[in-house]
Amino acid sequence: MSTTLGPVTLPNPVMTASGCAANGQELHRFFPVDELGAFVTKTVMAAPRSGRGTPRMAETASGMLNSIGLQGPGIEAFLENDLAWLASVGARVLVSIAGNTAAEFGEVAERLASSPAFAAVVGVEVNISCPNVANRGLVFACDPVSSDAVVRLVRESLPATTPIFAKLTPDVTDIVTIADAALGAGADGLTMINTLLGMVIDTDLLRPQLAGVTGGLSGPAVRPVAVRALWQVTAAMRDGRLPTAPLIGVGGVRTGRDALELVAAGASAVQVGTATFNDPSRPRRVVDELEAEIARHGFTRFADVVGIAHDRMVSP
Ligand SMILES: Cc1cc2nc3c(=O)[nH]c(=O)nc-3n(C[C@H](O)[C@H](O)[C@H](O)COP(=O)(O)O)c2cc1C
Repeated sequence: MSTTLGPVTLPNPVMTASGCAANGQELHRFFPVDELGAFVTKTVMAAPRSGRGTPRMAETASGMLNSIGLQGPGIEAFLENDLAWLASVGARVLVSIAGNTAAEFGEVAERLASSPAFAAVVGVEVNISCPNVANRGLVFACDPVSSDAVVRLVRESLPATTPIFAKLTPDVTDIVTIADAALGAGADGLTMINTLLGMVIDTDLLRPQLAGVTGGLSGPAVRPVAVRALWQVTAAMRDGRLPTAPLIGVGGVRTGRDALELVAAGASAVQVGTATFNDPSRPRRVVDELEAEIARHGFTRFADVVGIAHDRMVSP
């Protein structure tokens, strides 16, 4: 079930989703993390951050809201403790990075490339779905100009052989425009989707449940949105409106069948996020379940299933 993402071939197409499995050591108690196609790290920024105030998690009917706010140790501690450890256990690592400004993205990427453990890095996921503090909190990926600036700087800061994947938010009017900006600026592929902005009100206290008021919605509720985003971008690639590039699907995957839905829409790899909180072995189980699903449909090559729903569309 190997898959190819630009210049990189992975033994299977299943990954963790950024922020949902810390940086690997916790998950490794449940299964060896090198059994995943790749391990995706929590988004790392230049300096340590404590994140937003508590409470910062809220349950909803079919998913959850979080307002963690990119808590993390900062790039130096990440390289020393987390990336070095992931390399020591043989994991293939997709490092998720972000910055408060476009320049900070470039600095984090540069520091990453100079790490002694960089050989374990199979790609960099550029989390442009976080707010740009220099631009009154506007999310980079909501604006094609900001998306272009960030991706361009990261591209210049990394070796040409390291693929970069821009992680997009679905909270935009036209995701194809943002995908175009990211690919035009040098992204090798795209990860879709990050969480959707949501809000929960405590109906006993009649006040927002999260201290940060709004948070990111994830889990089963967002899968149809991920499928739609993958479908629209894949359709634009097939029509020649966008350059062809690999897509990583993420949003509400709990089982191999859920993963297959994202693959059929156009994803060449799939990440498992919120489901990991409920069952830490989920990412590993999805590897076997997806393989069984593909065999059940009579395919021997994973690549033959990528985007297949576009070929099977019933003409109106
Ligand atoms: C608690 C939590 C923390 C997250 N942290 C990050 C993060 O640091 N960087 C990022 O790009 N996405 C982050 N995400 C978004 C996930 O990577 C993923 O895009 C989203 O949750 C949709 O997938 P899911 O429904 O499988 O969780 C986070 C999600 C959750 C639930």
